[in-house]
Amino acid sequence: MKNPKIESKIEFLRSELQKHNYNYYVLSVSETSDYQYDTMLKELQQLETDNPKYFDINSPTQRIGDDRNKSFKQVQHKYPMLSLANTYSESELFDFDSRIKKAIESKITYVCELKYDGTAVGLTYEKGKLIRAVTRGDGVEGDDVTANVRTIRSIPLELRGDNYPEKFEIRGEIFMSHEVFHSLNEIREKNGKSKFANPRNAASGTLKLRNSANVAKRKLDCFLYYVLSENLPSDSHYENLTQARKWGFKIPPHLSQMTDIKSVVEFIKNWDSKRSDLPYDIDGIVIKVDSISQQEELGNTAKAPRWAVSYKYQAEQLFSVLESISYQVGRTGAITPVANLKPVQLAGTIVKRASLHNADQIELLDIRVGDCVAVEKGGEIIPKITSVDLSRRSPDSEKTNFINLCPECQTELVRIDGEAQHYCPNDASCPPQIKGKIEHFISRKAMNIEGGEATVELLFNNDLINDFADLYDLKIDQLTNLERFGEKSAHNLINSIADSIAVPFEKVLYSLGIRHIGESMAKKLVRTFCSIDKIMAATFEELTAVDEVGDKIAESLQLYFNEEINRKNIERLKAHGVQFVAEKKENTTMILAGKRFVITGSFETISRNELKELIEKNGGKNTSSISKSTDFLVAGNKVGPSKIQKAEKFNVKIISEVDFIQMLAN
Ligand code: IVH
Repeated sequence: MKNPKIESKIEFLRSELQKHNYNYYVLSVSETSDYQYDTMLKELQQLETDNPKYFDINSPTQRIGDDRNKSFKQVQHKYPMLSLANTYSESELFDFDSRIKKAIESKITYVCELKYDGTAVGLTYEKGKLIRAVTRGDGVEGDDVTANVRTIRSIPLELRGDNYPEKFEIRGEIFMSHEVFHSLNEIREKNGKSKFANPRNAASGTLKLRNSANVAKRKLDCFLYYVLSENLPSDSHYENLTQARKWGFKIPPHLSQMTDIKSVVEFIKNWDSKRSDLPYDIDGIVIKVDSISQQEELGNTAKAPRWAVSYKYQAEQLFSVLESISYQVGRTGAITPVANLKPVQLAGTIVKRASLHNADQIELLDIRVGDCVAVEKGGEIIPKITSVDLSRRSPDSEKTNFINLCPECQTELVRIDGEAQHYCPNDASCPPQIKGKIEHFISRKAMNIEGGEATVELLFNNDLINDFADLYDLKIDQLTNLERFGEKSAHNLINSIADSIAVPFEKVLYSLGIRHIGESMAKKLVRTFCSIDKIMAATFEELTAVDEVGDKIAESLQLYFNEEINRKNIERLKAHGVQFVAEKKENTTMILAGKRFVITGSFETISRNELKELIEKNGGKNTSSISKSTDFLVAGNKVGPSKIQKAEKFNVKIISEVDFIQMLAN
């Protein structure tokens, strides 16, 4: 039986505490003392413990997290979570502006925002309640971090007002303020733990903690910067954020609408001098086209929207001495030259090594051992060398000669025409390549088999595995005979290998480690061809007809499948029951195979994204601009005359959304 008195007291306390949270964490003002807040919270906790029927996951008492361990479920993003194209100079910004103006005939308004340096998150709300929080992951799917995100006080669990869409997603950046970061590191140092290199690492590390009670203690914060929904309140991004602010979200105060690119440049300059005063890190400015319909018109590339760009501020830079160059062999045989530096402190970390990328880079900068070099740390974890101070070069320094032989197996290196990297071609017996391929195969995003570098090293050194297919022949007693393997870990490994046969085909394809086939490309190929047999049988033309597959990728696939050893390994994996056929989820066809489409305008019965998906699912290819190789222009409403003229010029067939749907139905 419900008790109305208790119920209304609980409701009162929850709404008071929610109001306080909003004032304190979003608006940064406080009308309640800590003591009053704690007293109300304790009273509510007691009432909820005594009356469990009133439990609500969105109650302010639940912000303290849960002590149990969690591993993260993978969740598919409804809208792909893209990154941003970077620019570093005024002229690149002017280029961006010209590209936009070329594609859009009507007036453009830009919105300038700060680029918060943390970790991206997508929050889904349904009927005003937070139902899910997902990290970026690979952009297609990410980790479900809802339990951890619920502990972040500036993220509303329930929204204010009532004019929000029934269901929507809002994206933003989870970050850690300087103050929280420094006190966290102080405590870690006292407890003998390693310090976080910077607030970004601290924020992303915290978000991935398996215990949300610990996340709650770390005081993360979150700025929201983009609303996605089929029912947005406005066609203006700026206006949508203004509305979202009223729903209780922490929308950053520093955003501006601008009508010309010169004002954008002013905004950037202005913040370059002010950014060091902010209580958190930013690494640039984001410039977005304000109108949502113009954003849709511009669309996205595979990686980033065409309607937005980031301007990155100069990274921190320091000078150090290049003591020596060593060469690393990756799992694909790619050789990476690495600079060993005299240790220097840079952006919170001690830098001892930096990437030199490839032979061209060394040649271009004429980098020599003994040189005084500029080291920069941008967004990447590994710092890079950007220039050499020639005035400080010793007169007897010697030009760097790139190695000819693989440092691991002494095989002569090769360099594929048009590629910057040197490769060791001995993929069958060059140890780091063999081990690297197995490590990649077992990694979490691939076959998700227990163990890591050390396990692979041990099994390889004891001649138990020489390629990833050997994993499936391992026996318990072979493992328990090894010094470092106990009964329990041997069973765990064998079970985990056995479980991996259930891993879906798209991940299996990614696991094979074929050059240029990353996670999203593997997904695309699987969606189109459905089975390994069909991918192996596909002609060069059939491969390049797939969206995003160019000559380089098609060549790499054919090269891989032409190798007998690779075909043999696939057969061995098949015999063990590993998945090489995709479960048929959706009605995919090849009706549009080889056909190239450009979409323009706004549509009535279908969204632009749905249209694109239909094209891809049926074997067609989406492209952004009309050329002589375009087959169809799908034209919606409000299409500018220049698009039509261009289509006519290249004899491209112009069809409506109705024509398109009929084409599929036929
Ligand atoms: S908009 C499709 N706005 O920068 C556009 N991103 O380098 C999505 N970021 O993954 C991004 N501040 O994590 C946007 N004001 C801002 C941002 C911002 C930081 C991050 C975000 C994104 C990354 C891309």
